[in-house]
Amino acid sequence: MTAPAVALPLTPKWLDALIELDAAAGDWPWLRTQYEGSFEHHDLVLGWVEHEQLIALAVFQIVLDEASLLNFAVAAEYQSQGYGKQWFTAILKAIENKRCSKVFLELRESNIRAKKLYERMGFQTDGIRKNYYPSHNGREAAICMSLAIESHD
Ligand SMILES: CC(C)(COP(=O)(O)OP(=O)(O)OC[C@H]1O[C@@H](n2cnc3c(N)ncnc32)[C@H](O)[C@@H]1OP(=O)(O)O)[C@@H](O)C(=O)NCCC(=O)NCCS
Repeated sequence: MTAPAVALPLTPKWLDALIELDAAAGDWPWLRTQYEGSFEHHDLVLGWVEHEQLIALAVFQIVLDEASLLNFAVAAEYQSQGYGKQWFTAILKAIENKRCSKVFLELRESNIRAKKLYERMGFQTDGIRKNYYPSHNGREAAICMSLAIESHD
């Protein structure tokens, strides 16, 4: 990939592509109903699109100046090559343009790659929710993280 990541707002016409990318990306993909719900609730659904192909996705819920990252994934064939960092940088710009000053997210304790990525992007850990997610071995904890976005006005 040569072009830098740009975060485009996606419409429901991208539903199948979102579901396909997510299903192949990791062990815990969103269901179609979750994407449909996000479109219905006017969440910000963002995509990195190259030649009509979806490379990465992100879904934010925005309330006033706070953005919660609900889902984030890079297509399986592009993982572990630095695209996660590029994509996160692009979605942070999109959030900044929405005048958000804080981003929140939660991730599985076992998701080492995501944790490294978020820490690299400057996120700090705010707390741990024990037994939060169902997992292959019962339940696992959620790590709650946040990032303050500097205003460039
Ligand atoms: C998590 C995810 C978005 C990361 O994107 P990526 O493109 O694979 O990540 P990058 O290549 O940019 O690497 C991110 C960090 O993980 C590290 N990393 C990459 N592959 C790794 C691997 N196989 N094992 C351990 N660390 C790894 C990188 O070195 C980098 O850390 P660094 O900045 O300290 O060097 C991607 O793997 C994904 O879509 N996973 C499935 C869905 C998911 O888990 N989403 C997050 C929900 S919270």
